[in-house]
Amino acid sequence: MGRHLWTKLALSYLAIAVIAVGLAALLFNFALSKQFMGYVEEKQRLKDEEIITLLSSIYEKDGQWNPQRLRDVMNLWMMSGKEITLLDSEGRQVMDCRDSMEEMGSGARQRMSRMGMMCGWEWSRGGWNEAPPKEKTQSSPVTKATPSNIEGRRIPVYVGERKVGTAVIRPVGDEEIFSLQDKSFQATVNRWLWGVALGAGGFALFISLGIARHLSRPIQDLTGAAQGLRNGDLTQRVKPKGKDEIGQLANAFNHLAESLERQEKYRKRLTGDLAHELRTPLANLQTHIEGLIDGVLPLTPENLISIHEEILRLGRLVGSLEELNRAEASRLNLKREKADLKILVERTISQCQPRYFDKDVGLRVSLPEPSIELSVDRDKISQVLNNLLSNALKFTPKGGSVQVAARRKDGEVEITVRDTGIGISEKDLPFIFERFFRGGNGENGAKGLGIGLTIAKELTEAHGGKIEVKSALNRGTEFTVRLPLRL
Ligand SMILES: Nc1ncnc2c1ncn2[C@@H]1O[C@H](COP(=O)(O)OP(=O)(O)OP(=O)(O)O)[C@@H](O)[C@H]1O
Ligand SMILES: [Mg+2]
Repeated sequence: MGRHLWTKLALSYLAIAVIAVGLAALLFNFALSKQFMGYVEEKQRLKDEEIITLLSSIYEKDGQWNPQRLRDVMNLWMMSGKEITLLDSEGRQVMDCRDSMEEMGSGARQRMSRMGMMCGWEWSRGGWNEAPPKEKTQSSPVTKATPSNIEGRRIPVYVGERKVGTAVIRPVGDEEIFSLQDKSFQATVNRWLWGVALGAGGFALFISLGIARHLSRPIQDLTGAAQGLRNGDLTQRVKPKGKDEIGQLANAFNHLAESLERQEKYRKRLTGDLAHELRTPLANLQTHIEGLIDGVLPLTPENLISIHEEILRLGRLVGSLEELNRAEASRLNLKREKADLKILVERTISQCQPRYFDKDVGLRVSLPEPSIELSVDRDKISQVLNNLLSNALKFTPKGGSVQVAARRKDGEVEITVRDTGIGISEKDLPFIFERFFRGGNGENGAKGLGIGLTIAKELTEAHGGKIEVKSALNRGTEFTVRLPLRL
């Protein structure tokens, strides 16, 4: 049971719902009982007042207490669940309704004294409780009480200003203030209340199961996909539902899986590319050296230069891989020093100029006057520019042009390298800074390992800067390097 997230969720929702419904039912019961008690007491008070007014009018009619008249009305009150003892102005008992009832016979007496116990519920301070079964003998005894020890609510009876007696009023049979109807009403409300609470609990169970399933489904999907990924299936993706945290988690997972899949693809392609890059110079070296050994090739300076070039090519390849390694570690060991932007850019450009000249690609420069002073690792920034310039040259056909510009903007230095080359397709654009990525599946004929821009990005970010790209296919590309102006 406890193993699944959805069962845990469902159980917690259910617990919360049951506690809330239970509490609400208890509070409602408490408030209702209190209100009802107040209502019943008010009803009693009004009834008592009615009795006193009637007694007063009886006395007023005869100028004294007339037992015959009193007996008639007292019997009537007994029927409505009240016992009364009437005392005269001196405190002597004039009439007790039990006496009057004795005269009516035992059948009627028993019926009346049982009133108030028939519904089986009685009120006590704690709320509504089932009444304990009453002994049969309890319902009928009529004991004579002396005027002073009679219990009940004592209300004086006045005629005008004159006190003519006192009425002692109490409920019939027991010390209860609730009538049969009151008790039955309370019992019905209680039954409904607990019935509704039970229904609400059942409904809460149903809803909590549904919500728990709905909430845990995307997490289950994610868990399944993550396990698939762990087992080596990099094509695993989940459908993000909604924009909440789970939706964001699903998006992040998909992003991670895509990135892993891409990296894996690049890694495999790099192995192939590296083998190819290594095989060509190695094969050239082998043919040259075998030719020299066999005496087919003469040991001339030209043949030695050829061998030397192949060795340099191999060296460059290994050097590129080392560079990438260094760039990735460069965040930790930057050698910042004051540098003049103009001098830095011009020096880098002068290194590339011959290659531009050879390919017949124009190179124009526009630098700010006066120059800007930067605090950077000169070699690293020069390498960033170098990588951008060699890309621009590599991907710009003969006769095209490249423009380098620098300016100060919003507390930053902005260096742009814009070319009129082949451009980058929209499909490739998001990936060009990734390790070993080569545009057009590396089929555009241009040589390289796909690490120049990764190095440029690493080095720029190590300086707290940013590198951005804009490109239009067959129209050209613009790289922008932003460096914070920190001295
Ligand atoms: N100026 C540019 N014009 C068109 N495409 C470009 C340009 N610069 C980069 N690219 C695209 O971005 C890819 C990645 O560039 P990056 O410099 O990282 O690798 P590379 O030049 O292919 O190889 P390397 O720099 O390792 O010799 C390139 O293969 C190319 O498709
Ligand atoms: Mg490059």
